[in-house]
Amino acid sequence: VSAPVITVDGPSGSGKGTISQIVATKLGYHLLDSGALYRLTALSVIKNNIDITDVDAVSKAALALDVVFEPQVDGEQKVLLKGEDVGVQLRLDETSAMASQVAAIPEVREALLVRQKQFRQEPGLVADGRDMGTVVFPDAEHKVFLTASPEIRAERRHKQLIEKGVDANISHLLKSIIDRDERDRTRTVAPLVPAEGAVVIDSSNLTIDEVVQQILDFIGFSG
Ligand code: C5P
Repeated sequence: VSAPVITVDGPSGSGKGTISQIVATKLGYHLLDSGALYRLTALSVIKNNIDITDVDAVSKAALALDVVFEPQVDGEQKVLLKGEDVGVQLRLDETSAMASQVAAIPEVREALLVRQKQFRQEPGLVADGRDMGTVVFPDAEHKVFLTASPEIRAERRHKQLIEKGVDANISHLLKSIIDRDERDRTRTVAPLVPAEGAVVIDSSNLTIDEVVQQILDFIGFSG
């Protein structure tokens, strides 16, 4: 018998990262931020000057990722690539754009599959991504699909960047969100679609706490 899994899939800016972290902490579950694996692969491609059209080399980079996730007391995770803290580099625009390109390569997804499944450990796992409920953990107990309008997601991202002191243009962000959604949704491998049986939550007009509560209600957790 394998450990229980709650999958949380959705587009970027839907809040699934933050929400998955909170839900995992409340339940005392492990957390899989699968997007980080695609971002790490992207970073490795960039750092090693790997040609993105060289499928063999890119999938080898995915297989060979030397990464450690260190959970912090606040529920955040420190990400170490070859021992280097790459938290900031992972979130750069360049990395995000490269991540959705490497994620469209079937061989890369295959290479990351085993690694993702290894996160399923007692007492349970919250897995956040695009295809957690459809491909990686199709037998998950509970599946959530989190959405929000592109405008709201662009606003959230804008606010995040401004808070970090990064200059950002909202219409530019909106365009890049729409482009990335389009790529993620229409790709042939593991496109972004709600899994069968998933509860769909639109977070556009909900606070983080409200979404967390809806998920906890959905899985029947009263703590
Ligand atoms: O979730 P996050 O924005 O960090 O993911 C970065 C990119 O990785 C996404 O744009 C998507 O293309 C890809 N991804 C994926 N499958 C997942 C998680 C992320 O294809 N399960």
